[in-house]
Formats: sequence, structure tokens, C-alpha cells
Amino acid sequence: MRIGVLTGGGDCPGLNAVIRGVVRKGVGVYGHEFVGFRDGWRGPLEGDTMPLDIQAVRGILPRGGTILGSSRTNPIKIEGGVERIKENLAAQGVDALIAIGGEDTLGVAKQLFDRDVKVVGVPKTIDNDLNATDYTFGFDTAVNIAMEAIDRLHTTAESHHRALICEVMGRHAGWIALHAGMAAGANVILIPEKPFDIEKVCAYVESRFKTRYAPIIVVAEGAHPLEGQMALQTGELDAFGHVRLGGIGEMLAKEIEKRTGKEARTTVLGHIQRGGTPTAYDRVLATRFGLGAIDAVHEGDFGKMVALRGTDIVRVALAEATAELKTVPASRYEEAEVFFG
Ligand code: F6P
Repeated sequence: MRIGVLTGGGDCPGLNAVIRGVVRKGVGVYGHEFVGFRDGWRGPLEGDTMPLDIQAVRGILPRGGTILGSSRTNPIKIEGGVERIKENLAAQGVDALIAIGGEDTLGVAKQLFDRDVKVVGVPKTIDNDLNATDYTFGFDTAVNIAMEAIDRLHTTAESHHRALICEVMGRHAGWIALHAGMAAGANVILIPEKPFDIEKVCAYVESRFKTRYAPIIVVAEGAHPLEGQMALQTGELDAFGHVRLGGIGEMLAKEIEKRTGKEARTTVLGHIQRGGTPTAYDRVLATRFGLGAIDAVHEGDFGKMVALRGTDIVRVALAEATAELKTVPASRYEEAEVFFG
């Protein structure tokens, strides 16, 4: 078989480990041939390919990013996009595709499968918000990077008697904030799933200062206050009524200063959470996903996504994987709340 591989959406530590797992088993055990498509769905859309053999995957296991490049190109939104992809796959002699990506990339994979393209998906996102898998690779790396940063914020916060806010990624789901905040002993964690009460946040800040310690607040970029709160001061609400992404940390700092009279500072971690080498956990999970994906292709089990259930790699329907996002349940947030203030 000749198999195409692509990586789509925001990059993620562990992508190269998946590619290596796919190619090493695909060539070494099954004797298949591979072609890489560059920059997500743009590759098959434009017929932009690169060689993908044993040599191409040497030494890539610890490397962040993706040797194939990535993009957020969505062929479904482009007129004639699906037909162009089918033509290019045929022109390249590609029998099957492995698409490594998040909700958008796998949503496209599902739609292509519905139109007779043989495709298997691999779940990828630092946000860990993909349905039907316990974890996605990249999440553990992002959490560890954020945890180390928050650990460092504790000491400077205490030296200066300031509230320090760490803004982490997570547009729709607060998994990174929850895990990094719990791991690093944050005093408040704010996530998109639960609109926060700014008065309560300030009360936590004040009670923390009373114990002679400085408060650390971890906020997901998609977190937002209760309706009406802060909106008037900032006017920075997006079309969905949420505080605009990337700005919530700074807005919180201003609001806390105003309401408590204590100094506050914000650190935005941004893409640092997505860059660099994957943790051991992510390298192993990504490698196992790669092996699982090539097994599925070899067996002709298409329209599936490989997933982690407990400690097993299983296959689930792409339709199930892309049906909805996996957000933080209230019970998990309540565990973290025990440590607030
Ligand atoms: O989905 C992964 C993610 O890193 C989100 O956490 C974040 O909101 C988004 O991508 C950032 O996208 P971009 O890299 O395009 O700015």
C-alpha cells in the first residue's frame, strides 16, 4: 500500500513521534510505502508532497513541531476542495491517508471518509479536549511547561507581595489550567467551563495575603467572568460574549489591583506551551498512537481514530471523536477548589 500522512492544526510536541511510529512499523513490519503531505490539508489540496521513508524519520523522536509542517486549511470550506483532494491522492497513487490532528483536522477526515476516502485519524492537541480519548499527546508536555513556570512565579510573588497571574492556553476547555494549577499549587484556577465571580476571586486574593503568602492565579485564555462582571470596564467581549482570548490575564490583574489595592502582574505563556521537546509520557503515547494507526490502515479499518482508554490503545469511530469537545467536568473542578484561597 502507498499511504499518505499529514499533520494539521496547531502543532504539538509528539507529532514527530507519531510519524516515526507509523513509518517505522509501516515500512519495517508491513512493507508499505509512504508519502508526506505538507502543511495539513493544504498538502493533499495542492498536491504538495515530500518523501517519507525510514531516512526521513531518523532522529525526529525528541523534536517538537512536525517535519511535515502544519496549517489550519480546511478543504471543506473551499469550493471543489474534496474533489481536488481525491484527484491529488489518485495522482500520487495514495491508497490510504493517516491524518494527525485535532477537532478540525479530524472533522475533515470524517467528511472525507463519508466521501469514500480511506482515512485513519490520530488525536492531537495540547488542550486535551478531544472526545473519545482519555488523553491526547502534547497535553502532558504543555502541563509540565506551565507547571514549571507557575513554580517560578511563587517565589517572585512572595518576594514582592504581589498577586501573580499565569495565563495558559485553552480556548474551550480548561484542562491545561486545571492540571498545571493543581500540580503547581495555584490558589485560584479559572477555566472556560465555569464563568468566574470576580468578587470571589478577589476574596481569595485577600485571604491569601492575610496568611502572609502571595496568591497565584492560573487562568485559561478562554475563561470569562459572570455575565455583566468586568465587561463594562474592559469592553473586550468577543462575538460569543467571552472575554477576548489572550487578554483575560491582563484584565484580571487590573481588576484585582483596583478592587484589592494589591499589586498584580500577569505572565502569558502562549506558544511556549506548544514548543520544544515532548515529555517521556507524550513520546510513548504518540509512538503508540502511530503504531495503532498503521495497524488500522494495514487491516483496512478506516473511518476510525486511535484513542487511549485506560492504558489501552483502541479504535473509535471518527464520528464519535468529533461529535463534541471534552470539557472539564464539574467534579474535577471541585477537586481543585479545595485548595483555593
Ligand atoms: O488548539 C491548540 C491551541 O494551542 C489552543 O490552546 C490555542 O487557543 C490555539 O491553539 C492557538 O492557536 P494559534 O497557534 O493559531 O494562535
